[in-house]
Formats: sequence, structure tokens, C-alpha cells
Amino acid sequence: MKREADQVGPEGRQGLAVLGATGSIGVSTLKVVALHPDRFEVVALSAYQRIEELGALCRTWRPAIAVTHAPEAAEALARSLAAEGTEVWSGPEALERAVCDPRVTTVVCGIVGAAGLKSAWAAVAAGKRVLFANKEPLVMSGHLLLALARESGAELLPLDSEHNAVFQCLPPGRPGLVQSGVRRILLTCSGGPFRNTPASEFARVTPEQACAHPRWSMGRKISVDSATLMNKGLELIEACRLFEARPEQVDVVIHPQSVIHSLVEYVDGSVLAQLGNPDMRTPIAHALGFPDRIEAGVARLDLASVGRLDFEEPDEARFPCLGLARAAAIAGGSAPTVLNAANEVAVEAFLARTLPFAAIPTVIESVLAMRPVVAVESLEAILEEDRRARDAAREAVIAQGAKGVWAC
Ligand SMILES: NC(=O)c1ccc[n+]([C@@H]2O[C@H](COP(=O)([O-])OP(=O)(O)OC[C@H]3O[C@@H](n4cnc5c(N)ncnc54)[C@H](OP(=O)(O)O)[C@@H]3O)[C@@H](O)[C@H]2O)c1
Repeated sequence: MKREADQVGPEGRQGLAVLGATGSIGVSTLKVVALHPDRFEVVALSAYQRIEELGALCRTWRPAIAVTHAPEAAEALARSLAAEGTEVWSGPEALERAVCDPRVTTVVCGIVGAAGLKSAWAAVAAGKRVLFANKEPLVMSGHLLLALARESGAELLPLDSEHNAVFQCLPPGRPGLVQSGVRRILLTCSGGPFRNTPASEFARVTPEQACAHPRWSMGRKISVDSATLMNKGLELIEACRLFEARPEQVDVVIHPQSVIHSLVEYVDGSVLAQLGNPDMRTPIAHALGFPDRIEAGVARLDLASVGRLDFEEPDEARFPCLGLARAAAIAGGSAPTVLNAANEVAVEAFLARTLPFAAIPTVIESVLAMRPVVAVESLEAILEEDRRARDAAREAVIAQGAKGVWAC
């Protein structure tokens, strides 16, 4: 249930907490917010390492709360913001306290990775409107977050462009896929920077090449995930979580132009699609304004200049991460959490140049094979599985190094 009264913040506006404000999603969110001073009040902003950028954002937005990781950085930031009236919080519970602040009505989850899990969980438990870009918490614990939202009255809205597109193509009120006559969800995928690269060249791929996405400008972790197609695998699981779909109801199609953001196929043969330029401000504006449509500041889609829309099957032999994610979705229980943790460790090692690009799926596969699938029915159980899988993944990364599979 949506709690209308709770969705009006200071001066009748939505009170926003933008988590990961210094990142790609955070910056795009604030660009949309800047177009609508009558609708949104920025109450809280968070960052992790880019403290100077956070300071600059606070001077622009004058939020009541800024959250950062390290206490020393927080003290320095607090001194520099003394005139702005911004309180600076840090420490393990600071993000959770910020999202629960009564002035916050809407939380934009733009932190990258499992690091966003506890704050997303706190926002859902507090019954806020929660806009999810941060897909990893949904992959790890989406079934529990949906149940928690039913109890708390939180409203979950997808910011990820594919899931936002699916959300737009589903009937309002979402009574359930079967009752809505949905046969399948079709997620589109650009194919990433190595769509046409032979697998034999993957050993030499550098972080710079992997992060150079042909269509989207994103943070480094999601850029690498897009290059391995793990991003689409995580999105497959995210779709199962958000729309309560079975894995076999979710397919992936490569669509290099990234103009169709995803599709929903109905039992009568109708296929509904959402189109737009590849710009995250569109799904962000959709979710921020929902159910109203608001200006996003995005260039209009010019179909004539796009010219053609191409589609092809994903090549799971060259991109095994997609198959690993599908298998984890089917296995259920702790498998998606283990997959996500192993991927985060492997991607971090690749970005640190201690693991070759081609070994990312090898590490994930070995960790999935090592960890038994168990039921995970609490936040604590999820965090424990995440911790164990990370330990196993770190060992797998070292083992790959011992085999001498260096490349970059
Ligand atoms: N970018 C996109 O177009 C896009 C599209 C769909 C979904 N997503 C999803 O949205 C999320 C964010 O992606 P992004 O591309 O915006 O990433 P990004 O540019 O790397 O930004 C990540 C943000 O999270 C903060 N952060 C990093 N580690 C943290 C930690 N341990 N604790 C708290 N905060 C931390 C960063 O702070 P500092 O910068 O201060 O270090 C930064 O503000 C990801 O889950 C991604 O899959 C992104």
C-alpha cells in the first residue's frame, strides 16, 4: 500500500535522500531534480571516497544531512560546511539513520554493489518510496525486500532502465504476471564493448577497454559487468525479484542501438516496448515523478536518425556470466547472493589488474560450485552468505594468479 501522507516532505515537496550522490546515478538524479525545485527537496546526500565532490554538492543543494564513510573525512567536511547548515554523519549506521529521517520521503539507491544493501533494507523497512538503481541488493535479497515492503507500506520503483521499461509496459497496479496475461519479459542488452570481439582476445582486455561502454556512461563496476554480460545476468535475477517472475519467463536479446529498453510479451501475442534515447535521466524522471510524467532534460528520440533497430541472440559461449546468473536464478536460495559476491570480488581484482578479464567467469563458477545452496530468509543470513562467498572468491582469485593467467 502506498502511504500518500508519507510521500510529502518539507514544504509539501518530496524529501529526497540520494545515496551514492557522487556516482553516475547520483549525478543524473540531481540533474533531473534541478529541473523541479517545486517538487523535490534534497534532504540527504551520501558519498564514499569522493569527499570533495560531496562537499561541492552540499554547497549547491544545502541538504540537512551529508553522509560519508570515514569519521576523519566527516569532521573535515563538517568544518567546511559549517555555514551551509548541513550535518555530516559517518560510521556504520549513518546511512541507515539518514534514510529513516522523517524529512526523507523518497530514497534513491545509487550506491554500487552489496555496500548498498543495509541502507536499502532500512529504507524499505521504514516504509519509504525507494527507487532502486543499485541492483545488487535486489539480486541478493529481493524476495525479502518485497515481503518487507508489503509489511511496511514501502513503494519500490525500478530505476534500472530495463526494469523501468518493463514496469512501464506492465498494467498499472501489477496484479501479478499470470493474472496480467504476461507470457514473458524480454530484457534488451547492448552487447557491451566486446559484442564482436573473439573470445581469444579476452585474455588481453584492459580495464580501460572494458569500461569504455559504446552506449552508456556508467561507473566502473557496472561497466565491467556490461562487458562480461554479468550485468544482464544480474538484471535477469532483478527482474525475477521485482516482478515475481520465474527465470524461464525472462529472456535476453542483444539490441546494439539501446533504443528499446525492454519489452513485455502478452499471451495474445502483443509485445509492448518502451523506447527512448539511452540516457538514465529518463527512467530516473519516470520513477521520481511517478505516477506523473515530468521533464527529464533528455534529447527527443529521433527514429529517422536511428535508422534501424537490430536484434540478435546473446552468445553465452563467449559470455558465460549470463548462463551462470541464469543457473543461480534457477537454483534460488543463496545462489544469487554467492554469484553477486564472487562477481564483485572478481571485478575488483580485474580493475586492480590482478585478475584477467577472461578469468572473471572462472572465479564465479568455482565459487558457485564450492558453496552449497541454502535457504536465506533474513538479512543476517544474506550477509553471512555474502561474507563466505567473498572469502572463497578471494582464494579463487589467488588460485588463478598461481596458475599464471596474467594478461593485463
Ligand atoms: N550508471 C548507470 O547508468 C546505471 C544504470 C542502471 C543501474 N545502475 C546501478 O546503480 C548503481 C550505481 O551505479 P553507478 O554507475 O552510479 O556507480 P558509480 O558511478 O561507481 O557510483 C557509485 C556511488 O556509490 C558510492 N559508493 C561506492 N562504494 C560505496 C560504499 N562501500 N559505501 C557507500 N557508498 C559507496 C560512490 O561514492 P564515491 O564516489 O564517493 O566513492 C558513488 O557515489 C549500481 O548498482 C549499478 O549497477 C547504474
